[in-house]
Amino acid sequence: MPGYELIGKQEKEEVEKIFKNGGVLFRLGFEKLRKNKFKVLEFEKKFANYMNSKYALAVTSGTAALRVALAALRLKPGDEVITQSFTFVATVEAIIEAKLKPVCCDIDNTLNLDPLSLKKKITKKTKAVILVHMLGVSGHIEKIKKICDKKNIPIIEDTAWGCGGYYGKKRLGTIGRMGTFSFDYAKSMTTGEGGMILFNKKSDWMKASAWHDHGHENNPKKPRWEDTRDRSGFNFRMTELQAAVGLAQLKKLKKVISIHRKNMKKIKKKLIKLNLEFRKVPEKNSETADALMFMVKNKNIAKKCRRELNKNGVQTKILPEASTWHFAKYWRHIPEIIKKTKIKKNYFKKSSFYLDRTISIPVNIKMKKKIPNLIFSSLSKVIKQND
Ligand SMILES: Cc1ncc(COP(=O)(O)O)c(C=O)c1O
Repeated sequence: MPGYELIGKQEKEEVEKIFKNGGVLFRLGFEKLRKNKFKVLEFEKKFANYMNSKYALAVTSGTAALRVALAALRLKPGDEVITQSFTFVATVEAIIEAKLKPVCCDIDNTLNLDPLSLKKKITKKTKAVILVHMLGVSGHIEKIKKICDKKNIPIIEDTAWGCGGYYGKKRLGTIGRMGTFSFDYAKSMTTGEGGMILFNKKSDWMKASAWHDHGHENNPKKPRWEDTRDRSGFNFRMTELQAAVGLAQLKKLKKVISIHRKNMKKIKKKLIKLNLEFRKVPEKNSETADALMFMVKNKNIAKKCRRELNKNGVQTKILPEASTWHFAKYWRHIPEIIKKTKIKKNYFKKSSFYLDRTISIPVNIKMKKKIPNLIFSSLSKVIKQND
C-alpha cells in the first residue's frame, strides 16, 4: 500500500534542508533568502523526468489536479465530460466545480471505463474524457484514445491510483493530453496532501500554471507584483514543505511498486486455489499492484468475506465497504448524477454486475508473513459455506 509505510528519515532531511536554506515555504521568489533553492520546481522537474514527460505542475491535491487540468482545456459551461462509474467521487466533483456536466460510463471486467459504453455516451456536447486507472490497473487507454482521437476529444488520465504504472512502454498519466496524480496519504507516494499534472502540450501547461496561481503568467520580464495575465484563476499552489516530502518519496517509488508486486504475487498464489474471478488486467498493463481485486458470487457473500477477513485482522480496501464513495450508482447527493440515473431504471447495470460482488485486498509494503494464509483461510471458509 502507500508511501506512508516508508516515511521518515529521508523526508525529514529534505524538509530540514528548507530551513537550513532560509526557511522559505512559498514556491516562488525570495531568491536570496532561499539561496536559490526551489523545492516545488525541483519536484516538478524530477517527477516529469521520472515519468518521461516534459511538463509537470505540482498542486495541492489530486482533486485540485483534475480541476486545474479541466481549467487548462478552457471548456464552456455546460460542456459534457465523460468519466467512469467506478472512481472516487473527486473525479466527478472536479467536473461539477468546473461548471461542466459529468456523464458516467459503465465499467467492464477490468473495473475501468468500458470502451463500448463510452462509444454510446459520446455526443456533440462531449468535450473531454477522464479515464481513471482505478486501483493500480490501467484503463483501456489504447482503445479509448482511438475512439477519442477520431472525434478530437482530449483525454485526461486520472492517475491517482496509477502512479508509477505503465501501459506498454509509456508511463500511466503520459498517454492522454494530461495526466493527474494524487499524493494523499493513501497513495503509493505521499506528501500528506498534494497532486501533480503532467502535460503533453506546453500550451496546456502554461494555461494550467497561470490558472492555479490566480492567473499569474510568471512573466520573466516583470516583477511578480506587475505580472501579466489574461484571465482570472485560483490558488492551488503546492508548498515547499509538501514538495520536500515528495522528493524523498519519489526516490522510493520504484521500490514501493516492486514490493507491492512481490507481495501481490504471494497473495494471488494462495487465492488461485479458490477459483475466484480475478479482475481482468489489460495485456500491456504493468500494474502498480496497490490492491488485489476479485469477484465472488454475489453482494451478500462479498460482505461475509469482508466480515471474516476483518475478524482475522485483514482489511479490505474500498470494496465492498466504501462503494458509496466510489460507485456513481450511490451518489444520491449529486443532483447532476441523479438526473441521469432517473432516465433508466437499470442505469449502471453492467457496473453493478461487477462492483456489487467485488472484494479488494490492499497490498502492503510491510506485509506480515502470515497475511496470505490468513486471507486464504478466511475466504475459503466463507466460499465453502456458500457453495
Ligand atoms: C481516482 C481518484 N481521483 C482523484 C482523487 C483525489 O485525490 P486527492 O485525495 O489527492 O484529492 C482520488 C483520491 O483518492 C482518487 O481515488
